Amino acid sequence: MTERTFIAIKPDGVKRNLIGRIITKFEEKGYKIIGLKLLLPTLELAEKHYAEHKGKPFYPRLIEYITSGPIVAMVIEGDNVIAESRRMMGSTKPEEAEAGTIRFEYAINKEYNIIHGSDCVESAEREIAIYFKEEELCPNWTTMLEMIMNNGK
Ligand code: RTP
Ligand code: MG
Repeated sequence: MTERTFIAIKPDGVKRNLIGRIITKFEEKGYKIIGLKLLLPTLELAEKHYAEHKGKPFYPRLIEYITSGPIVAMVIEGDNVIAESRRMMGSTKPEEAEAGTIRFEYAINKEYNIIHGSDCVESAEREIAIYFKEEELCPNWTTMLEMIMNNGK
């Protein structure tokens, strides 16, 4: 089923110059980027995004981390993209991340783990709405893959 998900390259990913490499993985997989921007999360934005973790021991450090520099916010679209992009990211703990995943390749520890991806349809809708206005999204363009598939019908 075609879904949308919210992906963010966290400040450590940006600071390590990994933006291109990470976006490339999603492009190569065949997902369609329909929203993309670089922004410095405010405290308010970070607290909204990570509201579910409020009160946990790691919460203050998480907020400090996410507001420590610009992030790349993205909305990507594709078949089963929510679960599959999480699989491409790998486990929160890099030592448990499967070989070949983004966190296996780049993450240093479970706190500074390079990337965020929505974990279910409800989170995706909530997070997309936090980071993007409807008019900032470009859903109506056709990838080469879609063009080829449509011509083949
Ligand atoms: P995310 O929400 O960022 O995609 O990551 P996730 O689902 O894999 O992990 P989640 O449990 O939602 O945790 C959110 C982020 O909080 C930081 N964290 N630190 N010190 C810790 O024990 C700890 N646990 C989580 C990480 O940055 C994690 O990605
Ligand atoms: Mg999460």
